Amino acid sequence: MARADSDLDAVSCLHVNGAGPARGSLRVPGDKSVSHRAALLAAMADGSSVITGLSRGQDVQHTLRAVERFGVMVTDAGDGRVRVEGPIRHEPDDVLDHGNAGTGIRLMSGVCAGVDGLSVLTGDQFLRRRPMERVASPLRLMGAEVTGREGGRLAPLVIRGGGLTGITYAPKEASAQVKSALLLAGLSAKGRTTVEEVHPTRRHTEEMLAEMGARVSVEGRRVTVEPGALTGTDMTVPGDPSQAAFWAVAALLADEGEVAVEGLYTGYGRSDFVGVLERMGADIDFDLSTGLLTVRAARLRAARLTAEDIPGIVDEIPVLAMAAAVAQGTTVISGAGELRAKESDRIASTAAMLRAFGVSVMETEDGMVIEGGARLRPARVDSHGDHRIAMTAAVAGACAAGGTTVIDGWDSVATSYPAFAADLVRLTGAVAGSGA
Ligand code: S3P
Repeated sequence: MARADSDLDAVSCLHVNGAGPARGSLRVPGDKSVSHRAALLAAMADGSSVITGLSRGQDVQHTLRAVERFGVMVTDAGDGRVRVEGPIRHEPDDVLDHGNAGTGIRLMSGVCAGVDGLSVLTGDQFLRRRPMERVASPLRLMGAEVTGREGGRLAPLVIRGGGLTGITYAPKEASAQVKSALLLAGLSAKGRTTVEEVHPTRRHTEEMLAEMGARVSVEGRRVTVEPGALTGTDMTVPGDPSQAAFWAVAALLADEGEVAVEGLYTGYGRSDFVGVLERMGADIDFDLSTGLLTVRAARLRAARLTAEDIPGIVDEIPVLAMAAAVAQGTTVISGAGELRAKESDRIASTAAMLRAFGVSVMETEDGMVIEGGARLRPARVDSHGDHRIAMTAAVAGACAAGGTTVIDGWDSVATSYPAFAADLVRLTGAVAGSGA
């Protein structure tokens, strides 16, 4: 078995030989949500924007390639800085391929709705199965023509944009992607666009639009944008809290674990997993002025997570479920039906992963019940094309399961965290290699 290095970024099957506690400090990739928005808003804005610390994952690279199709020049300086020269000059000159990126295709749908002309958006086999009607319906109400395949799983998606009118809309899902698509479309609509959220979600779009000169206001769960132009701005992308969550749980899975993650995003709605782990008894410091997160091993107890908790931890459930598996007591997660529409059916894929490690778990329609106190055994896990399942299995295999854990579909990790295997080896001393 080879030591993990950059060769392991794209292997389809990863073997991890468990070692023990995770110890050390690191920086994680630039925040994926912020990176998509930085690329899209810079493309829409007048003038040039220099983005520092953009995610190098495939998802964001797809967004960068897509904005080029609108005549926007993107120059990668190779030193962590990417220059984007907006604004959008014409309808896209080819199909926009968003790979695996739900955020990419949904936010881009909002952009395309505002562009005069025809756009065709698609993605990989997993993305083409994900629901798009949630953005298509309100964009139609604004005046865009949106069509696609039958059954609401629309991609490839065809949008004829332009001539929009602002609306007030209350999506039935708590979804920052839907909210953001409508706010981006609203920039070129006649009149204001208001989104009323069922539960508040991450606010990156609102924050970044305001920084680029848009008139945007937030009153409780109502977000309103006025039509107007954006001005190119230099931006620095902070570290991704959702990626830090893997290292936080890694530190908690074995005695004497201690991990520090530097430079994380500290704004609204992204680090609720810190509070959940604290409720479970974890020993954590999160410095909101620097974004330094420090986690030390502690005895964990079960948690009860309900619909209000979910938007703030929507991407962290697989790894929190792994923490629940080793905690004392029974963890109940409910109100999380949206997880069935993620990169995989994340309720089913998380439950299957836990079972493979020997955990007793019951799937419900909108969540799961996890029996804690498990002694994890080495597992063979299928990521189902979902990076967060793969990374959760890797930390469990490295820190808690002993023996060799095998992860099929490891290449999904390159969508968001290409150097994950290398960081895992450095922090845990585990040996990782490719296999079959
Ligand atoms: C995201 C919003 C969430 C999240 C996704 C990123 C975003 O999706 O799961 O990984 O950047 O807006 P939903 O808005 O569909 O819940």
